[in-house]
Amino acid sequence: MGFWKTWFSTSESAATNRTAPFEEMSAEFTGNNPNSDRIVFSTERDIDLYELEELCDAVGWSRRPLRKVKKAIEHSFLVASMWQVRGNQRRLIGFARATSDHAFNATIWDVVVHPDFQGKGMGKALMKYVLKKLRSEEISNVTLFADPHVVDFYRTMGFMPDPEGIKGMFWYPH
Ligand SMILES: CC(C)(COP(=O)(O)OP(=O)(O)OC[C@H]1O[C@@H](n2cnc3c(N)ncnc32)[C@H](O)[C@@H]1OP(=O)(O)O)[C@@H](O)C(=O)NCCC(=O)NCCS
Repeated sequence: MGFWKTWFSTSESAATNRTAPFEEMSAEFTGNNPNSDRIVFSTERDIDLYELEELCDAVGWSRRPLRKVKKAIEHSFLVASMWQVRGNQRRLIGFARATSDHAFNATIWDVVVHPDFQGKGMGKALMKYVLKKLRSEEISNVTLFADPHVVDFYRTMGFMPDPEGIKGMFWYPH
């Protein structure tokens, strides 16, 4: 079963290209209704920072300086966004990004789904999209830092806390 349908095909690398393709969610998610809103994914980096800030505000995240968010996006290996498309309007409803050494490892950051769309499998679909893109770049070691209340969300996708006793360790400036 073809899970994803490519909207605009491209031969460039998915993680690094700047004119990203859009990929549409399968009918399994859209309810198979040709008149319903479409949900699409993109690796486009040219994201409206104010729209992203609104999305992060909606889940109660602390605001971060936009110039730093812009820099983080520019320097991420993969930027994944999820959009609700109605006619020629689109709304940012999900976001995630990953940093990487471009060879072995990637770390996923800033996973967020707008509360209006939570609990409908969208977060899982966004993570599947991110993992598919990372695997297509032959990245085999994917890590992330889970807030305590979402450990089980990541577990449903096969992430393991502390595999073989490995601990995440942190250093902060005093
Ligand atoms: C965490 C988040 C991305 C999940 O997105 P979502 O669209 O609600 O998740 P889904 O509907 O795709 O859920 C997928 C699975 O995870 C489970 N799940 C979702 N949120 C969960 C949570 N907070 N705790 C435990 N399980 C959760 C679902 O029950 C579902 O399980 P199933 O596959 O067995 O049915 C979303 O709630 C969110 O944006 N939260 C605020 C931001 C945040 O905390 N981000 C994570 C930072 S580490």
